[in-house]
Amino acid sequence: MNRLLLESGNYLDSSGNVLAGDVGIEDGKILFIGSAPKGWQSDQIIDCRDKLTIPGFVNAHTHAAMTLLRSYADDMALMDWLQQKVWPAEANLTGEDVYWGSQLAIAEMLASGTTAFADMYFFMDRVAQACVETGIRASLSRGLIAAGASEENLRLSENEQLFIDYHGAENGRISVMLGPHAPYTCPPECMKKVVALSERIGAEIHVHLAETQWEVNQSQKKYGKSPVSLLDELGVFERGTLAAHCVWVSPQDIEILAAKKVRVAHNPSSNLKLASGAAPVTAMLEAGVIVGLGTDGATSNNNLDMLEEVRLASFLQKLNRMDPTVLPARQILSLSTQGGAAALGQAESLGRIEVGCNADLAVFDMTAPHWYPRHDLASMLAYSANSADVLYTLVDGRILYSKGEFMTLDIERVKAEAAARGLRLAK
Ligand code: NI
Repeated sequence: MNRLLLESGNYLDSSGNVLAGDVGIEDGKILFIGSAPKGWQSDQIIDCRDKLTIPGFVNAHTHAAMTLLRSYADDMALMDWLQQKVWPAEANLTGEDVYWGSQLAIAEMLASGTTAFADMYFFMDRVAQACVETGIRASLSRGLIAAGASEENLRLSENEQLFIDYHGAENGRISVMLGPHAPYTCPPECMKKVVALSERIGAEIHVHLAETQWEVNQSQKKYGKSPVSLLDELGVFERGTLAAHCVWVSPQDIEILAAKKVRVAHNPSSNLKLASGAAPVTAMLEAGVIVGLGTDGATSNNNLDMLEEVRLASFLQKLNRMDPTVLPARQILSLSTQGGAAALGQAESLGRIEVGCNADLAVFDMTAPHWYPRHDLASMLAYSANSADVLYTLVDGRILYSKGEFMTLDIERVKAEAAARGLRLAK
């Protein structure tokens, strides 16, 4: 399908306002908004009356295949959770598990209006395969954890191969970063190797950073500096960096993040559930830090619903600052779309409904009771909409999800495989 018309609907513009108008798509890109060029005819029309089209959500940090461990280990402290439950279960993961876990995650994301995600995990070639097949957009990185600090154990070459095989694949729909897991699992000697490889092949870096107070205390004790200062000194931020969490950052840390144009992925559900803390999102935005929103993995959330992150991110900042005016509806929607696009390093082509941008879109149905009355549609989207309202999800102008049906994956098979594999891993 080359030409698609979203007719007679409403759309969220890049300032966060909802306007009425048609959106025309050609060859995967937004060709026009408003009236069609003379003589232009669509191959397919979606009737968008009583519907709201938005740029698809960009999930700026997740571990897609962790859907397999959903509800397996809840209500635990982060390090106990990792050491006692998650890491032992993950030790038994196969590539086939990761493939089906990723398919499940992709189904969940498409059904809730997410069109792109930044992923860090293992067997990433199988995640890439799932992305190629399903049509979703993704930035993939191999989680690099030092076991004995040797390069072989670090799996750097695996991440390099992923970059060679998939960076820019599918007409740019798939990109690849290097994924040093965190300063506490990828110590300075390893981090230096990652930076050197990143310089050599031109890859950006995706890392967990300053997630818990424990991490900051440990870094101060071991290196006499914060995790942010440490990575800055190691040159990690020279490469173009996506940093997940940044919960425990000082004003000096925030200055570094802003100066080095580090893109932060804020994960409110995960930070709340693991009681990691409230990231100073408002302070980071005031300092000019680029911020996107993420779900983190389904084990620490426990879903991949970006609309929930939108609400929670806003409410958490309001409570944290004891100020209901911070992170208002339009700004938080912008973080979930444009902020996420910037987090993935794709601000130019993604996250906005503008002519020339990729047609990565979600269409919300507005007929449910919670869409009435309509004083302010942007506010309704941020605070009262439900991701079950999503009717269509498109990536590169291709309809991947349509009224409950998945066009590019076999959902019954995906659910059955994920259910069986999840239970096996938990044994
Ligand atoms: Ni994470």
